[in-house]
Amino acid sequence: MEKTVKTKIWSVDKHVNNLLSSDAIQEAARLLQENEVVAFPTETVYGLGGNAYSDEAIEKIFHAKGRPSDNPLIVHIYSKKQLLNIAQHVPKIAEPLIDSFWPGPLTIIFPKTEAVSEKATAGLSTVAVRMPDHPVALALLEKADIPIAAPSANRSGKPSPTTAQHVLEDLRDKIAGVVDGGKTDVGVESTVIDVTGPQIEILRPGGITREQIEAVAGKENVRQPSSFTGAVKSPGMKYTHYSPNAPLYLVLSKERIHDLIAEKKAKGKRVGVLTTVENAENYDADYVHACGERADLRTVASQLYESLRQFDVENRDVIISEAFPKEGIGAAIMNRLEKAAVKIIQ
Ligand code: TXA
Ligand code: MG
Repeated sequence: MEKTVKTKIWSVDKHVNNLLSSDAIQEAARLLQENEVVAFPTETVYGLGGNAYSDEAIEKIFHAKGRPSDNPLIVHIYSKKQLLNIAQHVPKIAEPLIDSFWPGPLTIIFPKTEAVSEKATAGLSTVAVRMPDHPVALALLEKADIPIAAPSANRSGKPSPTTAQHVLEDLRDKIAGVVDGGKTDVGVESTVIDVTGPQIEILRPGGITREQIEAVAGKENVRQPSSFTGAVKSPGMKYTHYSPNAPLYLVLSKERIHDLIAEKKAKGKRVGVLTTVENAENYDADYVHACGERADLRTVASQLYESLRQFDVENRDVIISEAFPKEGIGAAIMNRLEKAAVKIIQ
């Protein structure tokens, strides 16, 4: 029989200034040191943390999430002084990015040291590292004082969690605890970049935009996206992701959305539409969900996963989603919608 634990829930106010001495942070940090797995908030999404040095802890993460073992984890640190424990060296090209964007939603790939569990990096010779910009995460990482591997704290394949409640929906009694620090801010995961080659390569768009990276590193130092879809360099990018229960159609042209709603309704389907506040009145569907404001795509990113989860609650037969411009944070939003979709319609 599956072993279950009673998941502890600690509520922590991220605004208090003595987080390090809070009982919740101390207890959660102790569990991490004992190779248990604990979920915690970051500025992007909730992560499921475990000791990056411990095979035992990493196995618990993969098991709880049902994650394929060839998909490596991001290791979280609170201070630059921890970096050389896990990365062999820091390429010059990475330095200005670290100075500009850490702490923050930028994950950087380095050659790994022996100390990092091979299970955490799925056998790769590299390790992905980030310093989250969230007081609760930073306090927990400092108190534990070990690098913490943490994928998003959802069951593999589901939308990432932006509240402790989402974590519990997916992982209750499968993990030792969750630190509830309220709703996350950015709402989509960190940007993952590879700095081990001659140019910076963006492997996953996220909270720090291509435009921000180019402004700091110089456009000529950032590899431009090509239409070539060859080998997948970030192993996680090849799996189905972020999927609500009902099939999601991502529709690129607005006119086509109205036709598709009519088509699906004629077949007796209950139709849900994912849109923004600007367009919410325009659709004749069974359920219309406004996810943020198109005029400020940061608000769409912030609510995206919560919106996708809401369609599960509403239990519609199909979901039809608007598309967004692939600029700024829009690139991350579209990347997630493309992965959530069963079909992309022109
Ligand atoms: O915002 C975030 O990044 C969140 C929070 C919790 O920090 N974490 C997160 O982790 O999104 P996860 O495991 O859901 O996604 C990690 C991504 C995957 O696409 C994985 O394949 C890639 O990072 N990755 C990890 N290590 C890698 C490596 N050594 N080389 C290439 N890609 C790597
Ligand atoms: Mg994830």
